[in-house]
Amino acid sequence: MKDLLDAPAFWDDVPSFEGSAPHIFVVLGASGDLAKKKIYPTLWWLFRDRLVPENTMFVGYARSWLTVAQLKEKCQPYMKVKDCEQERYEEFWGVNHYVRGSYDTRRDFELLDQEMQKVGTARANRIFYLALPPSVFDVVTTNLKGCCMASQGWTRIIIEKPFGKDSDSSAKLSNHLAALFKEEELYRIDHYLGKEMVQNLMTLR
Ligand SMILES: NC(=O)c1ccc[n+]([C@@H]2O[C@H](COP(=O)([O-])OP(=O)(O)OC[C@H]3O[C@@H](n4cnc5c(N)ncnc54)[C@H](OP(=O)(O)O)[C@@H]3O)[C@@H](O)[C@H]2O)c1
Repeated sequence: MKDLLDAPAFWDDVPSFEGSAPHIFVVLGASGDLAKKKIYPTLWWLFRDRLVPENTMFVGYARSWLTVAQLKEKCQPYMKVKDCEQERYEEFWGVNHYVRGSYDTRRDFELLDQEMQKVGTARANRIFYLALPPSVFDVVTTNLKGCCMASQGWTRIIIEKPFGKDSDSSAKLSNHLAALFKEEELYRIDHYLGKEMVQNLMTLR
């Protein structure tokens, strides 16, 4: 029991990002419900607590005509910003960008790539979070592969459940993704599946 109490808490293991490559985190479907309620708040909390590398940029992408200021306003009710965090909060939005584009037009993804080249460097790692309805997963991942892969850094694609609505559609999506990306480039997220376990981490410890 003493060993357990002496052990560093998991939040003591603050990662060191010294000399880290630049990162660009792209939220596809930035105008949506998941983005405003879960993704942007989580990105803000990680940024606030310095749990993302210093030189990380965020790019929202969707069909809606939005500015970063409008995106900020949409997210505001879910960001839980304390008075003493205002300065850091403004820094967060200062490294946010927004690109308007459709999901099925290659040219729009070329423009997204251009924006990423502008805000990052060729060395930047790129992370794409698909906060989108499954109906556009295929076309969006095809366009990401065609236009937006990192040229020198690594690329990661994060997909939210549902991964298909039955066995056939799930296999179809898996085959489509496997044809485009290496398995290590793909992350599948079901943020409810692990929720209880994460909430009970202290009990598990
Ligand atoms: N919301 C949640 O809490 C939650 C929880 C668990 C899982 N998910 C999953 O996360 C993904 C996104 O969920 P969401 O609630 O954020 O969805 P959403 O708000 O309906 O859609 C996200 C964005 O995608 C675009 N969009 C919506 N319908 C579209 C269509 N038919 N064709 C093309 N684009 C469309 C819209 O952006 P533009 O029109 O601006 O392009 C919208 O803002 C889904 O796979 C959902 O199942 C969501």
